[in-house]
Amino acid sequence: MSGIGEGPLRLVIFGRQGAGKGTQCARLVEEFGVAHISTGDMLRAAVAAETDMGLKAKAVMSSGGLVGDDIMNGIVRDRLDETDANTGGFVLDGFPRTIPQAEALSIILGKRELHAAVNIDVPLEEVTARMKARGREDDTEEGIARRLELYEQETQPVLEWFSARNRLITVDGFSTEDIVWDRLVSAIKAAA
Ligand code: AP5
Ligand code: MG
Repeated sequence: MSGIGEGPLRLVIFGRQGAGKGTQCARLVEEFGVAHISTGDMLRAAVAAETDMGLKAKAVMSSGGLVGDDIMNGIVRDRLDETDANTGGFVLDGFPRTIPQAEALSIILGKRELHAAVNIDVPLEEVTARMKARGREDDTEEGIARRLELYEQETQPVLEWFSARNRLITVDGFSTEDIVWDRLVSAIKAAA
């Protein structure tokens, strides 16, 4: 299946760190054949490959900070230009995270309209526990606290930005992966 309704599916997925964005995006790829565009995964690949960008991003990421908007906008613009994202649709995971990124995205997309921006809503205590159990390199106590703080400061206004444009759907993400998946698919189908 390549989409819902007319044309390829184009989504943005939000949610606090540890909310299960990456987890649910893997299922969206399977179900709808979309490209999973995770800026965090792209940055971690650049760090592992020790590219110039990776070397610059490494310290920012391990402290839980945000990489600069110009770098991020460039990465996403190039990625969205690729054939798979153009023809099969995409789900953006981890972008946009700031208002300037949201504004850049709307220019990058032009006529390619988003079906929805989905917020996977999970309480703070639960996401903190999930990240501690996962133990990724940036899942230190300070890193988690900093990332969650920046989410409130920088990314919460982006949710409001999408809500003001009637694009935001909220899905209760405080349940098992399978139940969250069922809720997510119903919400996407209702929005499409
Ligand atoms: P990024 O990779 O986006 O990390 P993040 O924001 O910290 O989000 P996570 O990946 O931790 O959360 P997730 O929602 O994907 O959770 P997951 O599915 O893994 O960004 C990393 C860094 O890159 C940033 O801090 C920043 O420095 C930089 N960066 C990236 N994009 C940027 C941008 N646009 N601008 C600037 N800087 C940027 O799930 C978490 C855990 O919970 C897993 O172990 C999973 O198995 C488990 N889990 C999932 N679902 C459930 C469930 N329903 N029940 C129980 N456990 C579950
Ligand atoms: Mg993730």
